[in-house]
This record gives sequence, C-alpha cells and structure tokens, in this order.
Amino acid sequence: MSAAEAPYYEPVGHERELFEYAFHRKLPLLLKGPTGCGKTRFVSHMAARLGLPLQTVACHDDLTASDLTGRYLLQGGETVWTDGPLTRAVRHGGLCYLDEVVEARKDVTVVMHPLTDDRRVLPLDRTGETLEAPEDFMMVASYNPGYQHVLKSLKPSTRQRFVALELDFPPPEQELAIVVHESDLARERARALVNLAVRLRELKGQDLEEAVSTRLLVYCARLMQAGMPVLQACRATLVEPLSDDADVREGLMETIRATFGG
Ligand SMILES: Nc1ncnc2c1ncn2[C@@H]1O[C@H](COP(=O)(O)OP(=O)(O)OP(=O)(O)O)[C@@H](O)[C@H]1O
Ligand SMILES: [Mg+2]
Repeated sequence: MSAAEAPYYEPVGHERELFEYAFHRKLPLLLKGPTGCGKTRFVSHMAARLGLPLQTVACHDDLTASDLTGRYLLQGGETVWTDGPLTRAVRHGGLCYLDEVVEARKDVTVVMHPLTDDRRVLPLDRTGETLEAPEDFMMVASYNPGYQHVLKSLKPSTRQRFVALELDFPPPEQELAIVVHESDLARERARALVNLAVRLRELKGQDLEEAVSTRLLVYCARLMQAGMPVLQACRATLVEPLSDDADVREGLMETIRATFGG
C-alpha cells in the first residue's frame, strides 16, 4: 500500500511527526488512550505512510512467548520452525504492533526487552539464533489506561523502554471531519452529533467507566445516514453500549432528548 492510499487518519496534534521521528531514530512507541479514540487506525495509517508491512498482535493473558516468536510445527512428518509475528517483523522489517499490551503476562512482555532497548536484538532460544532488527523495524504498543488496575499494568522496565504518546478523543472540529468522512452523514447533522458527544462526555465519571468514543459516534452517524430516526440511533449507539444501569441510561437519554427534542 502506498502513502496515497493509507487508511484515513485525521491528525489531532503532532502525533504523525512523533511517530516518524521515533521510527527514524529507531525508538519504540507506546500509545495510550481510551477505547475507540483512533489508536489502531493511527498505526495502520502510519504503516502505510512509511510503506512498512504491519504485524498486529492482540494481546491477552493466554498469549505465550512462542505465540510472539514462533514454534516448531509438524509439517508432513517433519518439524519445521515457523516464525511468529514478532519474529517475522524482525526478520523482514516493518512494524510490530502489540495491541492491549497490558493484557499480556509480564513474562511475555520481557521477550521484547532486548528488542526495545539499544540492543535491538531478538534471541530465539529454540533455534539458537539471535536476530538483529533491521533499520526499518519498529515496535509499537498500545493500551487503555482507563481500565488499568494493579494486576494489569506494565512493568516500569517495560514502559520505560518506549517513547509514549497519549491520544484522546479529537477536538470537535477534527471529530466532525472524522464522523463525516466515516459515515457520509450531512455535515450539519454530524455537527449536532459531535456537540452532543461533548455534552455526554461531561457526564462521564461517577457511573460511566468510559465516555462515548469516536467509534460509537461514527456508528451513530452511519445509522442516521442509513435513515434510522435519530433518537433510536442514539439509543443504540450512545446509550446501550455504555451502561447496563437504568438510571445512567436514562441520564444519557435525557441529554440526547434535550439536544434533538422528542
Ligand atoms: N483520528 C482519527 N482519524 C480517523 N478516524 C478515526 C480517528 N479517531 C477515531 N476514528 C474512527 O474511530 C474508529 C475507532 O478507532 P480505532 O479502532 O482506531 O480505536 P482504538 O483506539 O484502537 O480503540 P480500542 O482501544 O477499542 O481498540 C475508527 O474506525 C475510525 O472510524
Ligand atoms: Mg484498537
């Protein structure tokens, strides 16, 4: 994919520049931010802009070091070494993106320690190789600090190997551009939705774990663009996914009715 056909990404600050500096100076990058704020889109956009292949690993607590590095697999009676996504990126160059990295166990995250400091190597105990990362290898990781708790946090020795960047929901003008681009909803209707999101996000706190995301705004706009009545679309995307608590949902609906009437 060339830079011209990179997945659409609306920059909010200087995040693209930071990413490019980090890539050129061979530094790993950690992205923090709430769900649906554009972390995954940003990484695929930057991979395309820089012309790099992208290996994405969704981390979870059953992920093993071999899931990242590779394993011997039986193939027609022979055991053949098969690279995992991390090893593939180190061997051939490109971005390795560890999504929700806090979900990975600490013994798994240490596998990337020698890769994310100035050694930039990946020792493979099983094959006896030590791979040196090429110029165009870059490690990117992301997580949502919102639902972090003591058991799920990164070791300081892991996090302090990364340059870090916090992403958040975009300011209204950028969010409007995103919603219009992703839904084709008429600009003025999209603007009302984005203004509503600002108000709904102010309600965040006591009862809501996370505020309404840009992703959900895009969902809402798509349903409205398809012809769904606005209150129904809002309930299905900006209320129900956020909470199971009847009072909380009613509070959100009140704000929505105050915006759109009804
Ligand atoms: N800056 C942006 N530019 C373009 N689209 C965006 C942007 N921010 C959010 N979006 C839209 O929001 C959707 C959700 O973004 P994305 O999947 O990247 O979120 P995320 O931060 O990776 O969330 P999660 O933590 O849940 O994985 C995208 O599919 C896209 O439609
Ligand atoms: Mg994501």
